[in-house]
Amino acid sequence: MKSDKKPDVCVVGLGYIGLPTAAVIARAGCRVLGLDVSQKVVDTINRGEIHIEEVDLDGLVHGVVSRGLLSASTEVAPADVFVIAVPTPFDKDHAPDISYVLSAGRTIAPVLKQGDVIILESTSPVGTTERLRDLIAEMRPDLKIPGLTGEIPDISISYCPERVLPGRILEELTNNDRSIGGITPRCARKALAFYKRFVRGECVTTDARSAEMTKLVENAYRDVNIAFANELSIVADRMGLDVWEVIRLANRHPRVNILSPGPGVGGHCIAVDPWFIVHGAPEETPLIRTARGVNDGKMHHVIAKAEALVEAHPGAKVACLGLAFKANIDDFRESPARFVASRLARRFGERIHIVEPYAAELPIEFTDTGVRQIDIDDALEACDILIVLVDHDVFRVVPLAERANKLVYDTRGIWPDQPRAVRETETALRLVG
Ligand SMILES: NC(=O)c1ccc[n+]([C@@H]2O[C@H](COP(=O)([O-])OP(=O)(O)OC[C@H]3O[C@@H](n4cnc5c(N)ncnc54)[C@H](O)[C@@H]3O)[C@@H](O)[C@H]2O)c1
Repeated sequence: MKSDKKPDVCVVGLGYIGLPTAAVIARAGCRVLGLDVSQKVVDTINRGEIHIEEVDLDGLVHGVVSRGLLSASTEVAPADVFVIAVPTPFDKDHAPDISYVLSAGRTIAPVLKQGDVIILESTSPVGTTERLRDLIAEMRPDLKIPGLTGEIPDISISYCPERVLPGRILEELTNNDRSIGGITPRCARKALAFYKRFVRGECVTTDARSAEMTKLVENAYRDVNIAFANELSIVADRMGLDVWEVIRLANRHPRVNILSPGPGVGGHCIAVDPWFIVHGAPEETPLIRTARGVNDGKMHHVIAKAEALVEAHPGAKVACLGLAFKANIDDFRESPARFVASRLARRFGERIHIVEPYAAELPIEFTDTGVRQIDIDDALEACDILIVLVDHDVFRVVPLAERANKLVYDTRGIWPDQPRAVRETETALRLVG
């Protein structure tokens, strides 16, 4: 890659991370080919449209596609830089599944040439970048591979995780600091030169394994701290205390910053990535494993409490507010809100109504349950019980006058002034146990 020429870039995987990344790189003036296994995704992007919800992404993608800087395909082509942003889920035993990463590696290996820069951005268990390197070495014995040759390698391979917040992805992609871990220091420098083209945040170089672990540690840190807040919420309920008041007061201590409780922890990052550490060091991770259990347990606590509430009010119409895994996004993966609402839907059928402004239709598990999707205005008009599962702004701004006569179970603490708020009941506690 000559420093005076803008590199041609191939971004593999055009989801929540890959598409904004491809668009931001294209905006910096590079020609970007987006590669995805989904023909539907490819066709949507080539029309200048998007298949995910993200602030300002539609205009950006439309602009770079119409200027010929971004195109999408299911077929790989030679490029100077390859950025891999494919899924890294876990299996039913919580073991990380890096098959998508290896599959992406198999796709790009045949077109690699001398000077190419390969960067893995998918959240990955420690050692994945080396596995990717070994796979490329196997498929391309003609290339000198970093870490496996005593000479100057033909290509460079690095790991650079994403730490963006959905809803602020475009801003954070460019402004957040980055950890860039090379298979060798030379690899890290090559990746650094690339990121400098479009990242304003500080880019810090390290080795690939440390960068992989850094990403996992960041999410495990969040998970453990949310678990503390969730455990407190159950303890406070048991003692008849308002957890929000307790946390608000405790956070006045200059060195205390307790996070917010909720109906559990969701998404494909914080609820998933800690398992990658546990899987890598099962004996050494009692705290991280327990935090996962506490956060999943909070979801079952909320289900028990919500079921007891609905049961105690026969005939009352119920609105579940929100299905997304966090506020103001359309991402429903691993969402505790979605899980809680679907359990209520299966048990109470048409008494349950779902309000989710970010969903065009209800997810598949609501089929045949008899529940309906309604908007917040209809819910405030028609429902007697409101169960707040997500702190979307559109719920947060509902004034007290419009909900004062409702019975509210607020798992997110968005309405501290609610007079008819549900507290813990003996029934719910027995159901939890
Ligand atoms: N979404 C986030 O907020 C976020 C934040 C930080 C890190 N991450 C990590 O980024 C990675 C990608 O996550 P995402 O949310 O963008 O996933 P996603 O599911 O939204 O998108 C992944 C895309 O990759 C495509 N794909 C799958 N296998 C492929 C292959 N072999 N070749 C080409 N395309 C392929 C899929 O069709 C899909 O469009 C994951 O490792 C995730 O943990 C995500």
